[in-house]
Amino acid sequence: MTATLANRETTAYVESLLARLTLEQKVGQMIQPERMAITPDEVAEYHIGSVLSGGGSAPGANTAADWIAMNDAYWMASMRDAPNRVPIPLLYGVDAVHGHANVLGATVFPHNIGLGATRDPDLMERIAQITAREVLATGVDWTFAPTLAVAKHIYWGRTYESFSDDPHLVSSYAGALVRGLQQECGRGGVVACAKHWVGDGGTTNGRDQGNTAISEEELERTHMAPYLPALQEGVLTVMASFNSWNGVKCHGNRYLLTEVLKERLGFGGFVISDWDGVDYLSDDPAEAMAMAANAGVDMFMVSVEWKRCITHLLDHVRTGVVPMSRIDDAVRRILTVKHRYGLFDRPRPAERYWSSQDCLGAPEHREVAREAVRKSLVLLQNTNNILPLDRTARLLVAGKNADNRGHQCGGFTVAWQGTNGNEQIIGGTSIWEGIKAVAPHAQLSVDGSAANASAHDVAIVVIGERPYAEGMGDIRPAGLVAPGSSPEGRTAKLDAYGQTIELAVLHPEDLATIRAITRHGIPVVAVLVSGRPLIVDTELTETKAFVAAWLPGSEGQGVADVLFGDHAFTGVLPFAWPHITTRWPRGYGL
Ligand code: GLC
Repeated sequence: MTATLANRETTAYVESLLARLTLEQKVGQMIQPERMAITPDEVAEYHIGSVLSGGGSAPGANTAADWIAMNDAYWMASMRDAPNRVPIPLLYGVDAVHGHANVLGATVFPHNIGLGATRDPDLMERIAQITAREVLATGVDWTFAPTLAVAKHIYWGRTYESFSDDPHLVSSYAGALVRGLQQECGRGGVVACAKHWVGDGGTTNGRDQGNTAISEEELERTHMAPYLPALQEGVLTVMASFNSWNGVKCHGNRYLLTEVLKERLGFGGFVISDWDGVDYLSDDPAEAMAMAANAGVDMFMVSVEWKRCITHLLDHVRTGVVPMSRIDDAVRRILTVKHRYGLFDRPRPAERYWSSQDCLGAPEHREVAREAVRKSLVLLQNTNNILPLDRTARLLVAGKNADNRGHQCGGFTVAWQGTNGNEQIIGGTSIWEGIKAVAPHAQLSVDGSAANASAHDVAIVVIGERPYAEGMGDIRPAGLVAPGSSPEGRTAKLDAYGQTIELAVLHPEDLATIRAITRHGIPVVAVLVSGRPLIVDTELTETKAFVAAWLPGSEGQGVADVLFGDHAFTGVLPFAWPHITTRWPRGYGL
């Protein structure tokens, strides 16, 4: 049963506050501009209720202190007392989707696909609790997580943000993640956001922001199911999804946003739109705002044109296109979330408890991330039991992802599309650094050219994908065009990652590296760093052992922990592994 968010105290507080607000103050609460498009003074002037950082959008030098200073300025502006103002504390939102990975020095956890391999809900709760603390350590109080997508097509660029294509596995994590993040709205909690409602993982061909063409029964059974435990845990916000359901965009779908989520399922928090997601409802921005508001969007995430959104919404209320009752319902929900979370009682960000705890990237946090890496590894092949390796062996380590913390973290890390190299991932270890720390005779040769049978007993080759996010991670066979987020398909403009999931074609350099080593008769252990399963038939036949490491995050040391036998392989596939036909079923793992 969905948790009731508004107890009597909250209801009384909210109603008395709502009654004092002018239309401008109400509409201001419903707008969430991106930080690059709004100043603290404008937050005060327009009564803005929330500001966000899009992926990679960071203040100053992107340190915790810079984030706290930024949030403090916005919060102070929102609380400014003036004749035409009612102080209402601002909520700041960010994508802390695998740790607070936007921020330099944060603990970066494995992306969700790797966490799906652990089958460990308790670990999810611990990860979420640590993530909440590192978010609070930057003065932020809201994360756009957990992603509850059930990815049905691994062509999708957001497959790695999905725990599994099995709704039961995703459901088993949802409550623990919300509990860990929100902490019963206590001092150590943040506002969570279940996303993206609904059917984001079910689009045709896995096309990001495309059309999910399935029956209502399938939508409920597969894509809505994980939201039930999240709602039972009292998740405070839900994000509308870019995709369409049978041709109707979720952002404009009153049946899904209002009748199902709010009325039938009893969701008492608020619905936020996705990044300019409203714009794709119509070529006329004013009409788009009306469609989204009347469908049930309560807060509008607007990258730049936020003033235009305010103007349209004010006009729609004055002309009756959007009834005042809809505005009141939206603002009531927003104020309910702020009050239930305790935002009205929290001091300014600079004076909050976690702002002075310096816990970002703390060693005990990184230990949990390292544990998650260990538990996420799936052993797919182990010919002649070549694993575990002898750490004193003469090891050659190779591959483009061996010494690349940026690549092992994937997207939504420091930058929206992730980073390359080690420099921007401060703290943690690359997979190579983790191996080197325990294996005295290990040598790095990224392209494998140093391979020498008289010098090396065995090689570890770390292969796979480069970072990507959203539509830029899609695999789209040439010529495949499916409707994206707008008539012409916004994602059509975002270059796809590739045209095939066959690794030997997608990244031939990896097979070249493997062969540069095996031609000397040196056996190879392959470690795949990727955001999804890939067809690796050729690589499997040419290597002795094969490990799926997914996107392990900052603590690459966890890979060495298992390769050398300090810890056993316990991870099992969260998705079936592709072959020309399915090679291994979900649940497989030696
Ligand atoms: C992005 C994503 C969403 C994210 C939001 C803010 O487009 O769809 O998951 O929370 O914008 O960055």
